[in-house]
Amino acid sequence: MTDIFDAIQKSAIRIKDAIDVKDIGYSQQENSSGETQLQLDIKCDMIIEEEFSSVASIHTIASEEKEKEMLMNKDGKYFIAYDPLDGSSLVDVNLSVGSIFGIYENAFGAKNMVASCYVVFGPRVEMVFAHNKAKLHLLQGENWEFTKEIRLNEKGKLNAPGGTQQNWEPYHKEMVDSFFAEGYRLRYSGGMVPDLHQILLKGGGLFSYPGTSDKPEGKLRKLFEVFPFAFIFKTAGGGAIDGQNDLMTIDYAHIHDTSPCFFGSKYEIARVKEVYASNK
Ligand code: AHG
Repeated sequence: MTDIFDAIQKSAIRIKDAIDVKDIGYSQQENSSGETQLQLDIKCDMIIEEEFSSVASIHTIASEEKEKEMLMNKDGKYFIAYDPLDGSSLVDVNLSVGSIFGIYENAFGAKNMVASCYVVFGPRVEMVFAHNKAKLHLLQGENWEFTKEIRLNEKGKLNAPGGTQQNWEPYHKEMVDSFFAEGYRLRYSGGMVPDLHQILLKGGGLFSYPGTSDKPEGKLRKLFEVFPFAFIFKTAGGGAIDGQNDLMTIDYAHIHDTSPCFFGSKYEIARVKEVYASNK
């Protein structure tokens, strides 16, 4: 898997340069989730596709920016689903964004995930790669330096509640408020990568993106966003559920499927499970 890791590192350096331009360019196209694609989204997608095209072990790729999956090498064994630039609409306000990669063996699906990775483009560029451990790397010039292993505490202090509040279920709002009543602090930028990165590096907390009245299946995509972060949180000693079930046990039918999702340390995830079980 070192070749995949290297390709992700190379693409991250190129994406960093692609972001740092004056005009990020609004295109007329929509992606498969009906969102307007920035030329920057398309450019980042092409950078990753190019870097992956020289990796023989990759069988198929699926991108948040592509309608369909794409065969790379029929003899390869890895299936990679990626979101080239998650939160790209935050670039024009100069907030952090990220790339997310789920690495699956033999086929897509949570049960086949063997590793996952994300890169956060903020004041610094960092990468977290989870295989047996979740490891943080920092970009220094053209070199990546291993920084530390990430481990979550049993309980955190941050609360990152996603989705439009007026569309939340009342019990979801009560649960979010109960964490604030316990002293949790609000941390939500609207970028999944930096919001989850903050929870991981500050020891814990809860990120939630529930099913809402307008989006009963949530907003975040299983293969590109939900499963990769579920894998990372579980590897770091935390939990990841859809309200009831461990996210790493749920199925998908279509590559662009979404799911409600909750990521956090053990204490917060236990509370979510309890609240959602009593409101089924
Ligand atoms: P986009 O890539 O369209 O900017 O969406 C970002 C995603 C994800 O990164 C973030 O957690 C979530 O959308 C935020 O959605 P809400 O604004 O609905 O909370």
